[in-house]
Amino acid sequence: VVVVVVVVVTAVVLSNRTDTFKATFIQECERRTPENTSTDCVEVWSAFEQAYVGRDPCQVPPEAYDHLLSVAPPQPACNRMLFWSGTKEVAHQVSEGCYQTMEDSMLGSVLDGMTWCGKEGSNETFTSGCPGWTECVNNPVRSFWSRASAEFAAVACGDAVVLLNGSRDTPFSPTSTFAKIEVQKFKPGKMKSLTVVLVTKDKVVANCENASLNKLKKQLKPGIKYICKEVTESKLIKCKKDHGKSCVVCW
Ligand code: APR
Repeated sequence: VVVVVVVVVTAVVLSNRTDTFKATFIQECERRTPENTSTDCVEVWSAFEQAYVGRDPCQVPPEAYDHLLSVAPPQPACNRMLFWSGTKEVAHQVSEGCYQTMEDSMLGSVLDGMTWCGKEGSNETFTSGCPGWTECVNNPVRSFWSRASAEFAAVACGDAVVLLNGSRDTPFSPTSTFAKIEVQKFKPGKMKSLTVVLVTKDKVVANCENASLNKLKKQLKPGIKYICKEVTESKLIKCKKDHGKSCVVCW
C-alpha cells in the first residue's frame, strides 16, 4: 500500500509540474498575443517542448529552437529596439511603455526568469534540477536565449539602442550574449544606427573612449552608424519618471 501511495503521489507531483509550467506558458502566450493574429499558443507550446523534451539537458543546442522561432518570431518595433548587457534592471525600467527589449517579445516575456529541461526517456518538463547557465553550454535555457536573441537582433530595424555598464572595465564584454550573438546578427539595410548608452552608477569606470567600445564600433558592419553617449543611472531614472511611458529620449 505504501509503495502504491508513494508511486501515485510522485506521479501526481510530476505531472503537476509539467502541467503548471505548460498552463502558465499557454496562458501568458495568449495574454500576449493580439486576437487578430494567427498565433496558436498550443502550437507554440508544442514547438517549444519539442526542443528539449526527452533529451539529455546538456545536449540541447540553440538550433533545437529553430522551429519555435519560426512559429513565434519576434515582432520588431523599428527605432524602438533596446539591447542591454550588464544593465538588465535599468534597461527594463527605461524601456517600459516605449522601447522593445528581448524580454518584451512574446517568448521573452513568457520565459524570462524561468528554468526548464527534459530528461532522456521522459516526456516531462522539469522546472528544477536542471543544469545551471554555465554547467554545460548546450542547456535548454541558455540555448533558448542564444537562439531567441539571434532572431531578435536579426530583425532589429531603424535606430537601435544598447545600454552598457559604464561602471565596469569592459562595458562591451566579448563573452556576453550581446557581443557574441546580437552584434553579429545586426543587418545593415535594416539597422540604421546603434547608439551605445553607457550607464554609470556611483562609480564612473569607463567612458566612450573605452577600448572595448572601439571594438564594438569596428564589429558593426559598414552601413550601421555608431553613436556613444554617457549618462548616469540616476539621471536616466529621473528622466524616465518625469516623462512616464512616453518615448522621450533620456540620453
Ligand atoms: N550565469 C547565470 N546567468 C547568466 C550568466 C551566468 N554566468 N551569464 C548570463 N546570464 C543570464 C542572466 O540571466 C543575465 O541577467 O543572462 C542575462 C544577461 O547577461 P548579461 O551579461 O547582463 O548580458 P548579455 O549576456 O549581453 O545578454 C543580454 O541578450 O537576451 C539578449 O537582448 C538581450 O541585449 C540583451 C542581451
